[in-house]
Amino acid sequence: LSKIEIKLSDIPEGKNMTFKWRGKPLFVRHRTEKEIATEADVNLAELRDPQHDRDRVQNPIWVIVIGVCTHLGCVPIANAGDYGGYYCPCHGSHYDASGRIRKGPAPLNLEVPFYEFPDDDTVIVG
Ligand code: FES
Repeated sequence: LSKIEIKLSDIPEGKNMTFKWRGKPLFVRHRTEKEIATEADVNLAELRDPQHDRDRVQNPIWVIVIGVCTHLGCVPIANAGDYGGYYCPCHGSHYDASGRIRKGPAPLNLEVPFYEFPDDDTVIVG
């Protein structure tokens, strides 16, 4: 399937759910207020692949990224690592709760796919 429709109310606050989309894992994360505030405040000068959180999300509550480590393609673990976002156990890449690379060998942030919110409870990716 080229598009996937996800019901957002199935994903509790603080949780990341993994879907399969175009043969890849797709992460949909329902951020907490604290995560939203932390990621909005990150100094871009600290980032290897500098991107403001607001340029990675359409709605600050929802982070939607491809769950493929930009190092060599393993699937990171959610809510783990030094920055609380994602941790790739293959070679130790740490991503924040915006999916940005913060530490370890991965060169780039987790990729943000094209998506839209047709209504408050639905996201369509693809
Ligand atoms: Fe993720 Fe190497 S594949 S750190």
